[in-house]
Amino acid sequence: MSEDSKRWINWDDLQDLSVDQIEEKAKQILSIMTLKEKLNQMVADQTVTEGGPKMHKRYNAESISAGEDKKLGVPGVLFSDGPRGVVIGSSTCFPVSMARGASWDLELEEKIGSVIGIEAKSHGANYFGGVCINLLRHPAWGRAQETYGEDTYHLGVFGVALLKGVQKHIMACAKHYACNSIETTRFNLNVSIDERTLREVYLPHFKKCVDAGVASIMSAYNKVNGKYCGHNPHLLREILKEDWNFKGFVLTDFFWGIRNGALAINAGVDIEMPFEFRMAPDKMIGYMNEGRFTEDLVDEGVLRILRQKLKFAHKGDPKLYNKEKIACKEHTDLALEAARKSIVLLKNKKSILPLKRNEIKQIAVFGKLTNTPNIGDHGSSRVYPPYVITPLEGIKSSAGNATNIIFNEGEDLEDAKELAKSSEISIIVAGYTHIDEGEGSGSKERTGDRKSLRLHEKDEKLISAIASVNENCIVALEGGGPIIVEPWENEVSAILMLWYPGMEGGTALGEILFGDINPSAKLPAVFAKSEDQLPYFDTNVTEIEYGYYHGYRLMDKEGYEPTYPFGYGLSYTSYSYNNLRIDKSMISSDGEIQVSVDVTNTGNITGEEVVQMYVGYKNSSVDRPFKDLKGFDKVFLTPGETKTVNLGLRAEDLAYYDIDRKEWVVENIIYIIYVGPSSRKEDLLTTTFSIS
Ligand code: BGC
Repeated sequence: MSEDSKRWINWDDLQDLSVDQIEEKAKQILSIMTLKEKLNQMVADQTVTEGGPKMHKRYNAESISAGEDKKLGVPGVLFSDGPRGVVIGSSTCFPVSMARGASWDLELEEKIGSVIGIEAKSHGANYFGGVCINLLRHPAWGRAQETYGEDTYHLGVFGVALLKGVQKHIMACAKHYACNSIETTRFNLNVSIDERTLREVYLPHFKKCVDAGVASIMSAYNKVNGKYCGHNPHLLREILKEDWNFKGFVLTDFFWGIRNGALAINAGVDIEMPFEFRMAPDKMIGYMNEGRFTEDLVDEGVLRILRQKLKFAHKGDPKLYNKEKIACKEHTDLALEAARKSIVLLKNKKSILPLKRNEIKQIAVFGKLTNTPNIGDHGSSRVYPPYVITPLEGIKSSAGNATNIIFNEGEDLEDAKELAKSSEISIIVAGYTHIDEGEGSGSKERTGDRKSLRLHEKDEKLISAIASVNENCIVALEGGGPIIVEPWENEVSAILMLWYPGMEGGTALGEILFGDINPSAKLPAVFAKSEDQLPYFDTNVTEIEYGYYHGYRLMDKEGYEPTYPFGYGLSYTSYSYNNLRIDKSMISSDGEIQVSVDVTNTGNITGEEVVQMYVGYKNSSVDRPFKDLKGFDKVFLTPGETKTVNLGLRAEDLAYYDIDRKEWVVENIIYIIYVGPSSRKEDLLTTTFSIS
């Protein structure tokens, strides 16, 4: 028997292990590894020369392996990306995360996660790098579409829902840790941030994913307080691994995630991706010999990796994973359901919508995007679905034969106006594409952050021209985040926010326009009136300070009126909120209260309502926001029906971070509970309770 065969691990025998058995097995495997073998676990299995040209041809076309050990029988981490589906091969393309955030539907998100897990595993991957939960500090961020919105709580519960679904099958990774909210300068941007803002605003959503058992965390490209995230011991060791007791592994963002292997391992990085480069074993041995780090850090990293490999090696039912599953009907139906639940009705003057099928002779449809498959960025999150239903196709198939649909690109304004005049209804699809916003690729074509929050001048002109001759003017917007609509909002009758709605987005749009689906989505980020209502943002900066306030919290603080508030969205029915109550008026600092409210469908159509709960702080000893989102639920109601919605609230979730004591403090003060259909003050019922 050769030495190597004595060390051979039969991975297939390692099924259904308990937590203790995993721990024991991981330690045993570690103990038989040489230093070089251990270091091999911590890097990708390809060099720049091997992997570079492949990635250049099509980024992420196949899974990327790290730490496969053929001699020992240890499988690799097989990376695949998202978040709007699986980027390998051709897969189901869901609406982007920002759209899904607008659904406020956590069950749906978990189902999407499960489909992503099944498709990724069917493609041969065992790791999904697409749980993107960066906070939308400013809507110009090029990757806004990859995250769920602006609110810490909402981001956290969405990240958890997605990872829970994915981790029924494969490992998930939450990214980009931390403060990654500007794209164009992401490789050298330094974010200055005080400890309280970091802990309370930019990190709690990551902590939620850690508590839910996420297998890994990806460090961000940018610096935080002077140190690259991949070289940042405060972020990776002190907070993530020590304070939060994270048991998974840390992976670098690709290529520029770290600059030096010794700094990275000291800071707490466990795997370098996508190449064996700055943490290449020979380099690392050199650093070790110079005394720049010790072997116990290698052992710690490898244990983390082995634990997750063992835990996920045999997850899920093997019968589930095969090529037939990829973009199968069941999965594309889920993409359709997600699109239906993500499109936000922002305006509906005189209830112009839903349109009455068979009663309209002619609808004119304008704008190049009407006829363009437009499903989001062409960077690392790009999914290649087998087909995309465009808005035009969706409108045509929903309208039926009695209505004539005429498409016009809108290039010639006079022509467009003539057509609008002779049509009962005009629909304009306008917004952005991957050229206007997305991941910074370094190329001229795709620079990352949006240049303006307004529509292209051409589109604004088209909208005004059409609206000036046809009062039944409906605008459907595409984009990865909030858009400033103020300049023309008053001129049109209806506005729908489609986001990038995925491969079935056109179908969902048609169904909503004609009332087959009652819209229920609500904004996961504020639509500001102007840039003045937003935090400072400059796409070219390399130094920026992130403050405590942004989004609705900033609007509340400054008393700004946005065009559309956070949590806002219309329906074809109406709801009333009554009888807000709590089960206790005083609790202790480890207590919990139940908040209940009766919600009634007061209209004629069945609908789903997103019920939101915010909390405010009376006489706090520190500066606190006017209110914070602390819970939400969705309720399905037939006309006239009333249901009670119950929301739990834990005292510990109301704590602030005390920078002197370096701990979370639950204050003994009065807390104000706000419950209602949006974050707008006038929409909210209130009650109070205290903690003592
Ligand atoms: C992105 C990551 C992504 C990685 C691999 C990087 O450019 O920043 O979000 O996971 O590529 O696709």
